[in-house]
Amino acid sequence: MEKIAVKEEWRQRALITAEEYQAWYRRSVEDPDGFWAEHGKRIDWMKPFTKVKNTSFAPDVSIKWFEDGTLNVSANCIDRHLEERGDAVAILWEGDNPAESRKITYRELHENVCRMANVLKSRGVKRGDRVTIYMPMIPESAFAMLACARIGAIHSVVFGGFSPDSLANRIEDARSSVLITADEGLRGGRKVPLKKNADKAIEIAGKAGQKVETVLMIRRTGGDVGFAEGRDLWWHEARETVEATCAPEEMGAEDPLFILYTSGSTGKPKGVLHTSGGYLVWASITHHYIFDYRPGEIYWCAADIGWVTGHTYILYGPLANGATTVMFEGIPNYPDASRLWQVVDKHKVNIIYMAPTAIRALMGAGDSFVTSTSRESLRQLGTVGEPINPEAWLWYYRVVGDERCPIVDTYWQTETGGTLITPLPGVTDLKPGSATLPFFGVQPQLVDSEGTVLEGATSGNLCIVDSWPGQMRTVYGDHERFVQTYFSTYKGKYFTGDGCRRDEDGYYWITGRVDDVINVSGHRMGTAEVESALVSHPAVAEAAVVGYPHDLKGQGIYCYVTLLDGEEPTDELKKSLIAHVREEIGPIASPDKIQFAPGLPKTRSGKIMRRILRKIAEDDFGALGDTSTLADPTVVEDLVEHRQNRR
Ligand code: PRX
Repeated sequence: MEKIAVKEEWRQRALITAEEYQAWYRRSVEDPDGFWAEHGKRIDWMKPFTKVKNTSFAPDVSIKWFEDGTLNVSANCIDRHLEERGDAVAILWEGDNPAESRKITYRELHENVCRMANVLKSRGVKRGDRVTIYMPMIPESAFAMLACARIGAIHSVVFGGFSPDSLANRIEDARSSVLITADEGLRGGRKVPLKKNADKAIEIAGKAGQKVETVLMIRRTGGDVGFAEGRDLWWHEARETVEATCAPEEMGAEDPLFILYTSGSTGKPKGVLHTSGGYLVWASITHHYIFDYRPGEIYWCAADIGWVTGHTYILYGPLANGATTVMFEGIPNYPDASRLWQVVDKHKVNIIYMAPTAIRALMGAGDSFVTSTSRESLRQLGTVGEPINPEAWLWYYRVVGDERCPIVDTYWQTETGGTLITPLPGVTDLKPGSATLPFFGVQPQLVDSEGTVLEGATSGNLCIVDSWPGQMRTVYGDHERFVQTYFSTYKGKYFTGDGCRRDEDGYYWITGRVDDVINVSGHRMGTAEVESALVSHPAVAEAAVVGYPHDLKGQGIYCYVTLLDGEEPTDELKKSLIAHVREEIGPIASPDKIQFAPGLPKTRSGKIMRRILRKIAEDDFGALGDTSTLADPTVVEDLVEHRQNRR
């Protein structure tokens, strides 16, 4: 694979040299206390910390950073910039409709966040309360998150594409009685019925015993939505009834900042809990060095605020660093496949950060959508969310970046708070498809399935052997699940769930999940969740779901479905199953392929052998392996035959 060496002009503007990277990295793992005592000071503390690292992965799992320091995250993201940069743009919002944009300065952000914090307070919201946020990509989403941080409430953002059921589950799990939403969202010219979904979710949660007492609603489209007297209130009205300032609450470093639900290999999505001090240090330092951010630059992370990428790299990292962060309401191919590059030209964007799935889709649309734009403001590109194939990487590099801009392929997870493995621009030589080398303080290790540590150029399961400040602290309300999920497979190590190769230069190449999580267009789906949605359909007896390679999405959702006796395997039924899953979870969980299966391959103890199902879905019939332990080996022949006939 070709290597793209650091260019002289990249090296000249880099924040640090390659030698400094090596030296800093060494210090960060040999003397984490010293390293993080120094870098922990990059954010403002109300009371400085005296303790730095207090973490253990075994026998007990306990993670604390800067534990005796106090701070307020919103004050770090807003107030501390007011004097120097009060009139600088904090949020540059680009609407779904290309004719709409808004600029919110740090001073305006301050006023809006204070007012929203005061509205929440007027409804009795206080420290530690959980506030659910179900919003489109509008600046008010940022106001809502920062307003929670200001008063010490814990936000739980639920992606606007999730169904009422999924929203209800998250409201129940977080025991949240406050919801912030909008009348409707707008994406690609289409309306998303957020308040309608929210009303349904509130009803479902209410039946399960979780009452939502306050719904703060933002008017986005002006669509006609219901209004529950006493419960609902409009932001544009409420904001006029409260003060324009609100003192930030003094929070402990280990006080929770947010919960974000994410899919795992088993059960319901879990509430990943991040705390205040370590998370903000991590968000800020990674954003600074990975994007080589300089004051005055326009930075754009084209993710949704409903995912961790939006939390860390649209909101907290850039704002902690006083950046101008672009927030985009729309989608890459609306009005046409030129949109992103038009936005780059319109706002003179310097740094863009996006998912490989979007890059692949835009590559498929043809170069002319890119080359018809200038993009001369761009100087840095980034990707996140899934492995990027070298072909898409090279297209991004050559066509979008005109071979001028280094690419940072950033590997991380909801659980990790921010990036773990990444090149640094002007420092690290690049290899298309590799996330390259660990960030400061991150110690990757590859192990085999028995847990034996693998050295040198090799492939294995990716673990991280010691804590870093941005690491999640627990699963909300279920610490045992946290320990079981991440620290029990390989005792004393954090297991990422990813497979990985390390090459002769020590570069890391993430190969994808090795557990029952699939990564669809950079979104995480638990196969168990899709299965449980399928079996709740009245025609279904049993279902098994696996991922398979998909040209655009990275992985697609492949469902094997066994029907109840008497049900006919028709195309109509397939459509009904797809609609059912979309209804239960949301459109992002839409099955790509459904194969009706008279039986599923099971061991004699009744365990479904997914390895075999994965191979069949991948059309890799030669590599089915040993099927002799199956209760009924003929099931496999039948599945293969059906797959080959594409029935
Ligand atoms: O499989 C890895 C993949 O995305 C998973 C994490 O998903 P999520 O928690 O939704 O967070 C996505 C945004 C950080 C990982 O376990 N992944 C993420 N980034 C990369 C990646 N795979 C390869 N290369 C990446 N750069």
